[in-house]
Amino acid sequence: MISLKHVSKTYGRSVKAVDDLTWDIEDGQIVGFIGPNGAGKTTTLKMITGILSPDQGEITINGISMKEDGVNAKRQFGFVSDSPDNFLRLKGIEYLNFMADIYQVSTEDRRRRIDSFSGRFGMESALDDRILSYSHGMRQKIMVMGALIHEPAVWILDEPLTGLDPKSAYELKEMMREHAKGGKSVLFSTHVLEVAEKLCDKVSVINKGKIVFLGTLDELREKYNSKDTLEDIFLELTEHA
Ligand SMILES: Nc1ncnc2c1ncn2[C@@H]1O[C@H](COP(=O)(O)OP(=O)(O)OP(=O)(O)O)[C@@H](O)[C@H]1O
Ligand SMILES: [Mg+2]
Repeated sequence: MISLKHVSKTYGRSVKAVDDLTWDIEDGQIVGFIGPNGAGKTTTLKMITGILSPDQGEITINGISMKEDGVNAKRQFGFVSDSPDNFLRLKGIEYLNFMADIYQVSTEDRRRRIDSFSGRFGMESALDDRILSYSHGMRQKIMVMGALIHEPAVWILDEPLTGLDPKSAYELKEMMREHAKGGKSVLFSTHVLEVAEKLCDKVSVINKGKIVFLGTLDELREKYNSKDTLEDIFLELTEHA
């Protein structure tokens, strides 16, 4: 469960990137976070993960306050940022072991998980190469593997499917489904509305720092025009606000 109460963030003096955001993301669900460029998705995800501090408001993950007990709050989730260009000097396997060390994952567990992830993502033969030599999609995949190596209850992913080939995108979507089915939660941002439509139990729409909708797609259609596609509703929600 990810809870935000009246969370706001302003950059500099004027850009109010996130404006009084309140929501509960319940367990057992995949929630798609959608909104135009610059709407505040990355800023929100960075506040949830403790990378940025909110100016105002409270954030708790599985009931643990990010402000009061950041270390334990951070144990609850795995985060994949929107930029996979990190730890470039490390080999893939070194990065995975580094992440497994941080989260104190046993040798047996990390071996099993690395085998499973690298098989699904077709990364076996790349693990001994430096991340610097990886393509964008390969970097994305190694970041996902590192973020999930401690089997976090909550997955928070910023545009995780960007640049993944069809098989890898399929595998990641399947992994999200398996995770949510096990009663855990997935929150991810995307610009691909078809993905949100097919994969998500709920969607949250953000526009100019404000949440304009959080609910199921059926609720969204009920509230707006049931005949419209998600694209039509999205454009209406974000253009005339
Ligand atoms: N480091 C920063 N310094 C100043 N302004 C910033 C910074 N990061 C983001 N912003 C501003 O905050 C607002 C929200 O940006 P954010 O990156 O959260 O949007 P986003 O929804 O993730 O967009 P995109 O879909 O393009 O990834 C934008 O107006 C952006 O210009
Ligand atoms: Mg973003």
